Amino acid sequence: MTRVLGIETSCDETGVAVVENGHNVLVNEVASQVAIHAPFGGVVPEIASRHHTECISQLTRLALDAAGGTIDAIAATCGPGLTGSLLVGMNFGKALSYAWGVPFVPVHHIEGHIYSAFLGPDPPEFPLLALIVSGGHTCLIWCPEPHVYEIIGTTRDDAVGECFDKVARLLGLPYPGGPSIQKAAEGGNPRALDFPRAMAKGDSLEFSYSGLKTAVLYALKKDPPPVPDVAASFQYAAMDILLIKTKLAIQKTGAARLLLAGGVAANKHLRERLASELDVPVSMPPFSLCIDNGAMIAAAGASRLARGMVGDLRAGVFASLPLS
Ligand code: KG4
Ligand code: ZN
Repeated sequence: MTRVLGIETSCDETGVAVVENGHNVLVNEVASQVAIHAPFGGVVPEIASRHHTECISQLTRLALDAAGGTIDAIAATCGPGLTGSLLVGMNFGKALSYAWGVPFVPVHHIEGHIYSAFLGPDPPEFPLLALIVSGGHTCLIWCPEPHVYEIIGTTRDDAVGECFDKVARLLGLPYPGGPSIQKAAEGGNPRALDFPRAMAKGDSLEFSYSGLKTAVLYALKKDPPPVPDVAASFQYAAMDILLIKTKLAIQKTGAARLLLAGGVAANKHLRERLASELDVPVSMPPFSLCIDNGAMIAAAGASRLARGMVGDLRAGVFASLPLS
């Protein structure tokens, strides 16, 4: 039995969790800063790192009390993300690792999202194709075996979650945009407006989301249609692109399984369409583990630990960090 403490502080969620044997979540504490950043319409880096500093000890205490027992290793997000925020979690994790004399495992944030889909009784098997959709990333990743990644498609401009956040702001909906648009779209007609599906044709696995955001802006300038119709049509178009490219990637790689993860994986419309429109099974984390959390970092850390892929106290943080 191995217990890993996972720490995530790359952006605006402080996450501390204890995961047993790489897939059993014993406790998952998340302190969200959404309400703190909402008045600014986005994350303010300095405020984010201060807030991580203020709550990380308390969250860790809560997690340790709830999990009980001993900890075998500490895993923390080393990048990509906001430097000041990453430093809080990494240094806290390194200090605990030194004090307790247990291994320290730095984890890439996207790898964490991938391992969020391993949390549960039925973890997927490799090889697999991963679709990672969040506020900072939109990528298709071929994963032939654990910890080997080939990015086969990514966005040329905005990430899909970033596009949801920007369009929500255009529509006067609260931050974060994803859940607000999903809610507004419930009462709308997804075929009311025909928004563009950028780069839908052809053989490329690249994404582009800035044109979609601009198309929404122009639609609002004319005779503004009802917000639910704009939200539903935008959501349909944004997810159409993900489906088109994912189908193409499955064809190209011959993947027998898709793994969906990242904040946007919480979108009900996307989950339903991927589950019903693809010919391969889809592994996805429960809603609660889609947004940033410590459990996904602990799961990735446990997998690295099992393979002897540990770091040490010299590990640094990286605002941008390639996955492969
Ligand atoms: O993974 P995450 O928590 O942070 C990053 O690593 O970026 O993802 C946050 C993103 C935000 O852009 C948010 O608007 C989006 O995930 N998101 C959603 C939904 N819930 C969160 N997007 C669409 N539909 C949702 N239900
Ligand atoms: Zn994330």
